[in-house]
Amino acid sequence: MNMSVKIAGVEFKNPVMEASGTFGSGAEYCEFVDLNRLGAVVTKGVANVPWPGNPVPRIAETYGGMLNAIGLQNPGIDVFVKRDIPFLKQYDTRIVVNVCGRTKEDYIEVVERLGDEPVDMLEINISCPNVKEGGIAFGQDPRAVEEITRAVKAHARQPVIMKLSPNVTDITVMAKAAEAGGADALSLINTLTGMKIDIHKRAFALANKTGGLSGPAVKPVAVRMVYQAAQAVKIPIIGMGGIQNGEDALEFILAGATAVAVGTANFHNPYATVETIEGIAAYMEQYGIEEFSSLVGAVGGGPNRR
Ligand SMILES: Cc1cc2nc3c(=O)[nH]c(=O)nc-3n(C[C@H](O)[C@H](O)[C@H](O)COP(=O)(O)O)c2cc1C
Repeated sequence: MNMSVKIAGVEFKNPVMEASGTFGSGAEYCEFVDLNRLGAVVTKGVANVPWPGNPVPRIAETYGGMLNAIGLQNPGIDVFVKRDIPFLKQYDTRIVVNVCGRTKEDYIEVVERLGDEPVDMLEINISCPNVKEGGIAFGQDPRAVEEITRAVKAHARQPVIMKLSPNVTDITVMAKAAEAGGADALSLINTLTGMKIDIHKRAFALANKTGGLSGPAVKPVAVRMVYQAAQAVKIPIIGMGGIQNGEDALEFILAGATAVAVGTANFHNPYATVETIEGIAAYMEQYGIEEFSSLVGAVGGGPNRR
């Protein structure tokens, strides 16, 4: 059976990666997961300078998921290049670096710094609901999505994945804007803006008041958005949002995703990525499917079917 997929000319041994921010840069999980088994490791968002993140409390549990307002805490590109890239290079897996910024120039600086590094793809986060400037401000305006995509593409050496926000009225408008700007692929969804109140403290559960909702609770929204985006664009889509196992992943794939990412599930089951790979393989075996790629968009159809 062949589980490999190609995204923007880059071959992945299988379609499963972990979602940015839920796996550190791999080091936190290598005790549980053989990183060689993953299609790719997607790093936590990295900026041009260190970001301290938001004040605590910044995570809260919800029904079927969690809220987070980490605020993209990261050590900055200098530490990342010295510490995290050499660590990941020890493994036979693709390296996808998630990039965050407050301004267009911030994104460009990071992307340029990564140009000579052994990185396979860049994932540009224009959709974090927890940072005030930049981030989601780019992800909610189609002109800004197109402009930031074009700017990043002009400076990037590696293929560019634009990570879209679900906090929009029509995801197809954003997907088309990223494609028009030259994106090589899309990833969706990032978290949905939410809020929780601690009734006993009579206070917001998160210091940031709002946070991003993730986990199984968001999966139907995510599958719907992947389906809609796959109808609207020709570039490949990496689907995520609440995936816990192979069956969840297959919903995204059949809807039109070429690959998938496992996020919040890693926090309560560190083996979730490997179990997802095994679950997809078992499904292929059960139905006698030789080529994974034949499943992509098999239900959703649309122009992204290939
Ligand atoms: C604690 C936490 C941190 C995250 N950090 C990032 C990040 O740095 N960059 C990014 O693009 N997405 C980030 N995300 C979003 C996830 O990558 C993913 O898009 C989202 O959580 C939906 O998938 P899931 O339901 O499987 O977690 C983060 C999510 C969580 C829960």
